Amino acid sequence: MKQAFLFLTLSVLMCSLVVFKIATLQAESTGAQESTSETIKTPFAEGCNKCHGDEDAYKEWTQAGHSHALVNLLEGPYEVKTSCLSCHSSGYTIFAERGIPGHPYNEKTAVNAVACSSCHSHASKEEHLLVLPAKKLCVTCHKMDCGCAGAGIVHQSQTEMFLGREGAGVKRMPSPHVRAMKKRCVHCHMAKKDATPQPPLSKGDNQIKVAKHGGHTFKADFSTCGNAGCHDSADNDMTVKLPLYRAEIEAKMQEVKTVLNNAEDKDSQAYKDAKLNYDMVKGDSGYGLHNIPYARALLEHGLSLKLQLSPAKDQ
Ligand code: HEC
Ligand code: HEC
Ligand code: HEC
Ligand code: HEC
Ligand code: HEC
Repeated sequence: MKQAFLFLTLSVLMCSLVVFKIATLQAESTGAQESTSETIKTPFAEGCNKCHGDEDAYKEWTQAGHSHALVNLLEGPYEVKTSCLSCHSSGYTIFAERGIPGHPYNEKTAVNAVACSSCHSHASKEEHLLVLPAKKLCVTCHKMDCGCAGAGIVHQSQTEMFLGREGAGVKRMPSPHVRAMKKRCVHCHMAKKDATPQPPLSKGDNQIKVAKHGGHTFKADFSTCGNAGCHDSADNDMTVKLPLYRAEIEAKMQEVKTVLNNAEDKDSQAYKDAKLNYDMVKGDSGYGLHNIPYARALLEHGLSLKLQLSPAKDQ
């Protein structure tokens, strides 16, 4: 009887130990993937939140795309290589260069999303401790050519569209915003005006103002267009003009798509050029939002190849 009791107590103990261990492991791994957990026991966790976790920047960041970059990569439909981490996980570049003996940095050990240290370093001399001047920062990752050729992935084309380059058969045509906006992408994507106070946090009653757009959510908001005396007059109102642009570009896209569908030789250079231009426009928010004049030129070049692409059908 005594033995049976001992055995029972022991097995209950063992069971709860196992359950406890699994629970902590799960907590660790989910925390690691969201990279928001307080202290992750890995040499790769950046740990900025220990000191900066109460700030607007941190709260905003947790609400938007960059904080999901690692999970989306690992759970996404493509084969993940270590090199993908250079843009999808901060720390990769630092650790790949310097390395920590016995701790390889790869898709199995990565813990950070596109987190604070992708853009900031206490060792930097730039304004706001940025690792690169604001105008050069976003374009290091946001480009079509991710260097992952062969993986079958087309990354979005906002940078190429904004700077008006890489299209086929069309001269360079930077968006007028390139000259007007010293901080480029940051100008629109970090403009902040809808900050709403959050409920008091446990530490005192500091109210954190978390924006739904702009700031460290990096989400652009069309209301920014009317800021700073830019598109604020009746004849320059973007809420009126943009839908018109969009309709025009979408109609042209449809025409190019028809040309592509009817093309006879899908290996020809003309086909590749027309398709590249179409994909670039589509890859920028669906209709070439970051540079409408360039989108128009890209599609018009695509249409100009119509005769070459399907000579028989057009005669
Ligand atoms: C270290 C590489 C890197 C840098 C630098 C970077 N991004 Fe990103 N960005 C990403 C990745 C990766 C994603 C995709 C996240 C995902 O999985 O949805 C992304 C997503 C986004 C999105 C979509 C967000 C959403 O909520 O869906 C916007 C907008 C954006 N970035 C803007 C910017 C701007 C503006 C800058 C410069 C201030 C910038 N990014 C700098 C890698 C980067
Ligand atoms: C994708 C790049 C990027 C990431 C990731 C990023 N920042 Fe920033 N951060 C910037 C840029 C760009 C500025 C400067 C904005 C400006 O010049 O208007 C900035 C400014 C700041 C500032 C000063 C001004 C402000 O907005 O409060 C703080 C503090 C800051 N960041 C903290 C953080 C912290 C903490 C994290 C991690 C949660 C983080 N940042 C992640 C790009 C980034
Ligand atoms: C031990 C605490 C501590 C840690 C850890 C820490 N910081 Fe800081 N950070 C500070 C202090 C203190 C300042 C200066 C005061 C201020 O401006 O908030 C500062 C300033 C900054 C600023 C400048 C903000 C501005 O207004 O321009 C940025 C950006 C920043 N840190 C980013 C980071 C990043 C990225 C990490 C992680 C790699 C990090 N910090 C880790 C304490 C810390
Ligand atoms: C040069 C930087 C860079 C490299 C390298 C890179 N990516 Fe990305 N990736 C981005 C950026 C920026 C985004 C967000 C916007 C976009 O789609 O372009 C993104 C988005 C994605 C998305 C869509 C995320 C979502 O919102 O669901 C997937 C999937 C993806 N990348 C997979 C990969 C894979 C797989 C690799 C490696 C073979 C890779 N990426 C390498 C920069 C990069
Ligand atoms: C003139 C202002 C402006 C500039 C400059 C700008 N953007 Fe945008 N961006 C926008 C607007 C507006 C949207 C659309 C947001 C929406 O649909 O709600 C957008 C959309 C995006 C998206 C898609 C976001 C999503 O949620 O899918 C990405 C990624 C992006 N921009 C990256 C960039 C990058 C990188 C740069 C710099 C090369 C840049 N943008 C420059 C205004 C701007």
